[in-house]
Amino acid sequence: MGNSTTWEQQAAHFDRTDPVGKFRNEFKIPEAEGKQRIYFLGNSLGLQPRSTAKAIDRVLDQWAMEGVESFFLGDDSWMSLHNKLLKTLADITGSLPHELSVMNQLSVNIHLMMVSFYRPDGKKRKILMESKAFPSDQYAVRSHLAYLGLNPDEIIVEVNSGSGLEAIADEDMIEAINRHSGELALVLLGGINFYTGQLFDLGAVALAARRAGALVGLDLAHAIGNVSLFLHDWEIDFACWCSYKYLNGGPGAVGGTFIHEKHHHQQDMQRLTGWWGNKQESRFQMKERFEPEADATAWQLSTPPVMLLAALQASLSIFDAAGWQLLLEKQKLMQKCLAEWVEALGGTHFRCITPASRGCQLSLLFPAKGRAVYEQLFAKGFMVDWREPNVIRLAPVPLYNTYTEIWQFSLALKEILQELFSAEGQSGQIK
Ligand SMILES: Cc1ncc(COP(=O)(O)O)c(C=O)c1O
Repeated sequence: MGNSTTWEQQAAHFDRTDPVGKFRNEFKIPEAEGKQRIYFLGNSLGLQPRSTAKAIDRVLDQWAMEGVESFFLGDDSWMSLHNKLLKTLADITGSLPHELSVMNQLSVNIHLMMVSFYRPDGKKRKILMESKAFPSDQYAVRSHLAYLGLNPDEIIVEVNSGSGLEAIADEDMIEAINRHSGELALVLLGGINFYTGQLFDLGAVALAARRAGALVGLDLAHAIGNVSLFLHDWEIDFACWCSYKYLNGGPGAVGGTFIHEKHHHQQDMQRLTGWWGNKQESRFQMKERFEPEADATAWQLSTPPVMLLAALQASLSIFDAAGWQLLLEKQKLMQKCLAEWVEALGGTHFRCITPASRGCQLSLLFPAKGRAVYEQLFAKGFMVDWREPNVIRLAPVPLYNTYTEIWQFSLALKEILQELFSAEGQSGQIK
């Protein structure tokens, strides 16, 4: 790609020929003073589909008209809602529908999965995690270990990149798995690290873990709806995610869990149980003893949050209409443009810490004045986020962002950097 004018023309061309561009109209774009903002925060809270309100209204109407009978009445009975989400989720996670359960929220599900999949046995009791895993994962694992009477500092092995801030080479992760193989019980990894935006080679990590005799669990908060996943074929043991980022399920949306089918019928499986995990046929017979469903829904505990399921269904239908493969292709082209344009226009004052293996997110590390850059971007209508101590994260997403927005962002970043640094010559430069 060439100079500024060509890039601008190129962005316009990509937008004109974008096969999924029209789906932007399906979303409500935040505005300030009557002007649409440029929202690059799909990694934080995905935008609201226009159809969400209608989907929730439909549930409210059912509730008003039929009360509790709405669980069972008609083609859109509340009982049938959960299963209607599974096909799309299976497509985008590379799972079989019966390996999925839409339930609870992410941190809760990690706790539930720890009960089933952390099985310390003799010397094999260590848990391998990435350094700078999302804090909630660290809290969940540490509290689970404390609950079991184990010392988290003796159990958790953290793999880091040296500086503790940057991407971790897949080889380092695999080398750590091999090195600890004799004592490793579980590898628990974020599919995409929330800070660096790195997408791990999850298939290779899972293979190494299997060879080491350890189970593998993933936190897919930043990966689901963002990148290709093959959870079944990779033989991931379990995975959990939230649905409010790239899945656009809304704030506090209902989360999801993948449990590989090889674990569905294990007799000795430890599991916290509730009536919604009981076989549907006998659930309402109110038996004293739990009879688990034959699939991943055996891990469900409670009555599902119907309005949240309906909101998620509204969003997933847009994925279906757009086509997952087309979205992935656009995501890759957007990333290529973003990385090339920001680097060319402003690259001396920051360093991109996101490796080539990534999804929508790019993390830019500013040795100086990063917070000021972030604030000026916000004032100019760009919604990105700031992560302490010195990183701006941005994530244009294929469903509702345009190439022209990426171009406008790159230009604005250049202008802000010029303004902020011109007074002091070259200080704050990396290269
Ligand atoms: C990587 C990651 N893990 C866990 C969480 C916590 O999710 P929840 O608040 O839905 O439990 C988040 C929230 O943003 C996250 O980004």
